[in-house]
Amino acid sequence: MSIATPKGVFDVLPGTSDLWKDPTLWQYLEKICREVSHLYGFLEVRTPAFERTELFQRSVGEETDIVGKEMYTFVDKGGRSLSLRPEGTAPVIRALLSSGIRDGELYKYYYLGPMFRYERQQAGRYRQHHQFGAEVIGDSSPERDAELIDLLMSLFRRLGLRNLNLMINSIGDRESRDKYRKALCEFLRTKLSVLSEDSQRRFETNPLRILDSKDPADQEALVGAPSILDFLSSACSTHFSAVQQALRSLDLEFTLNPRLVRGLDYYTRTVFEITAGELGAQNSLGGGGRYDDLIQQLGGPALPALGFGAGLERILQTMIGQGVSLPSAPHPRLLIVPMGDAARERCFLLLKQLRNQGIAAEIELQDRKLKSALRRADSRGIPFVTIIGDDELQKGTCDLKEMATHTAQSVRLEEVANHV
Ligand code: HAM
Repeated sequence: MSIATPKGVFDVLPGTSDLWKDPTLWQYLEKICREVSHLYGFLEVRTPAFERTELFQRSVGEETDIVGKEMYTFVDKGGRSLSLRPEGTAPVIRALLSSGIRDGELYKYYYLGPMFRYERQQAGRYRQHHQFGAEVIGDSSPERDAELIDLLMSLFRRLGLRNLNLMINSIGDRESRDKYRKALCEFLRTKLSVLSEDSQRRFETNPLRILDSKDPADQEALVGAPSILDFLSSACSTHFSAVQQALRSLDLEFTLNPRLVRGLDYYTRTVFEITAGELGAQNSLGGGGRYDDLIQQLGGPALPALGFGAGLERILQTMIGQGVSLPSAPHPRLLIVPMGDAARERCFLLLKQLRNQGIAAEIELQDRKLKSALRRADSRGIPFVTIIGDDELQKGTCDLKEMATHTAQSVRLEEVANHV
């Protein structure tokens, strides 16, 4: 009996029927993520796949769905509570704090890797998903907010994506939010009974999260609700205006969405999200914002910071949905088909010599019929094939068949490398 794949995970495997699970696409996307990051002055960070549970409780927040319902938490053999990382921001800050963070320094880091959330199974939602994320630590300038958003938008542009919606909002500082929370609760108090069950619970624990509920009853109840933008302190308001100005000067179109609050507790001031119509209900390609209080909350100095995370699965699915041009899999330049034992030995050596010269080559060792070897070369997109038997060994030459033109030319064995 074969063992089933766990729910909510997938394999990245050559030749899969789901195009977005093709390893060539993953490598291509990761390469472009790295290139764009380097262009914007970000360096790579790799943190462990698991952390102390407390890290996420104290950053993402115990009342959030991510920590409250979706974390893969376990007790290890030493009795410690550990969790598979559900996101990448808290680990990056933890890493920086453990290596010694310096006030006055600017840190720009990016990461690529798996995140784990026990989510309800749904298109575009996985229990292991992969993020490209970037974090900037030590700068409160509004231009940094714009630079970070620009990085993500320029990644999407390089990948050929179109028709994306960049939404931005400011959720202010703690005081702005406290005032707004009170006003929102007052507004919703009389409508409590019509809110969805989730939102009724959130009314007690995290009322701002009601704002981005997709439930139609909640949406209806929110008509005429106060806007957070009217509750921002003047410093937060000035910051947000400057972010918008900087985005405009970078020619980045955006929509103001005062309902955008995001599902993690650490945010302050600017928050943003980029959506794509192709993705259906789970339409967020990426999102992030400022988290100016988090570093202090985790025991570090009071340093401002901001970042984003973007889902690689959703980016790939959108690329395919929008029909952007995709890279093809790497393949050998030449397939060598030996005929007979002597040729086999010489061909094996030839193969090694070609590879030493940096030429990707493959050998047919299964004594297949010539026809099936040619078919294999064709299906793998191998442009050249050569069949080498006793005759060829004696003459020291071989016929190099070019698959595309169905032509062949005779070349000396030691010169094959120059012709493929
Ligand atoms: P997040 O919005 O929870 O933010 O996740 C970022 C992105 O990861 C989402 O926009 C989505 O594309 C993708 N994603 C999240 N969950 C799943 C899932 N279950 N399946 C597939 N894709 C998913 C964060 O994680 C923050 N750490 C972002 C951040 C960095 N904020 C500041 N710095």
